[in-house]
Amino acid sequence: MSTQSQTALIHRFNGIPFTTRSSPDLLKSLDAFDAREDDILLVSYPKSGTHWLAQIIMQIYTPKVTLTSPIEFGDISRVEELNNLSSKRIIPTHLDYNMLPSNFKVKQCKAFYIIRNPKDTAVSMYHYYRDNPNLPTIDSWTVFLELFLRGDVVCGSWFDHFLSWEEHKNDQNILFLFYEDMKKDLPKVVKKMSVFLGVNLRHSEIKEICEKSSFTEMKSNVEKENSDPNHTVCALTSNRKLIFRKGAVGDWKNHFTPKENKMFEEMFNKKMKLSELAKHIIYEC
Ligand code: A3P
Repeated sequence: MSTQSQTALIHRFNGIPFTTRSSPDLLKSLDAFDAREDDILLVSYPKSGTHWLAQIIMQIYTPKVTLTSPIEFGDISRVEELNNLSSKRIIPTHLDYNMLPSNFKVKQCKAFYIIRNPKDTAVSMYHYYRDNPNLPTIDSWTVFLELFLRGDVVCGSWFDHFLSWEEHKNDQNILFLFYEDMKKDLPKVVKKMSVFLGVNLRHSEIKEICEKSSFTEMKSNVEKENSDPNHTVCALTSNRKLIFRKGAVGDWKNHFTPKENKMFEEMFNKKMKLSELAKHIIYEC
């Protein structure tokens, strides 16, 4: 990674790398953020399927709710902007649990945490870095993987992020979902989400939501520029086409060498030794 671009595009806050699009002032002010009881948080480590989840939630809710860009993106004016929204807010965030504004915790706002197997997440993030001029230049997949394992990428370590949220796996207001389960049986996951949100959906409505949330449908809408640009969760690009790449489980096999896979597994086993949720992660469907 070129040092110059790294310096220009990334800064650290609480030891975690953020892009300069998340201003230090905003990050500092977040702890005093005024959450509302009916806010819904959509939490993820980047490239875990955040847009997919957002697409589903926006269809579960009628009448209209507002999907914001991640709470940590922008400058200090974001706080006022979010405060001024009168409708129910669906707020995405890539923050780890420790950095989540405490008001969301006090008010026990409902939150979804989407988990994607970290090998595919790393691959997805690598392509995103490579194709996105707003992120530092990456020399190769091998270099990126090392950075990913060290947590030297935007939003920090996948492992730390996951573990910080896993500590709250028994909190009634947080629903943990797996990307791979969504690939396997989307209607089942949509049903689970709607029950968690207290929204009653008919079978036909679930079917329609799933159709409109398929990878093919979402990707083609973006290509036809049919989709609402306000529904771009990721504020690091205005090019929505970068978000929908393959949408597959197991693409990591096309990237990891056996040696890299071994290195990954060793790190995973060490860091996730005590994790219950990690036992449910699957790498192929
Ligand atoms: P790939 O790069 O592996 O294709 P995020 O929304 O958190 O940025 O995650 C982006 C990843 O989710 C991308 O992964 C993208 O293709 C995938 N994705 C987005 N919508 C999807 C859908 N409807 N079905 C499956 N995967 C989807």
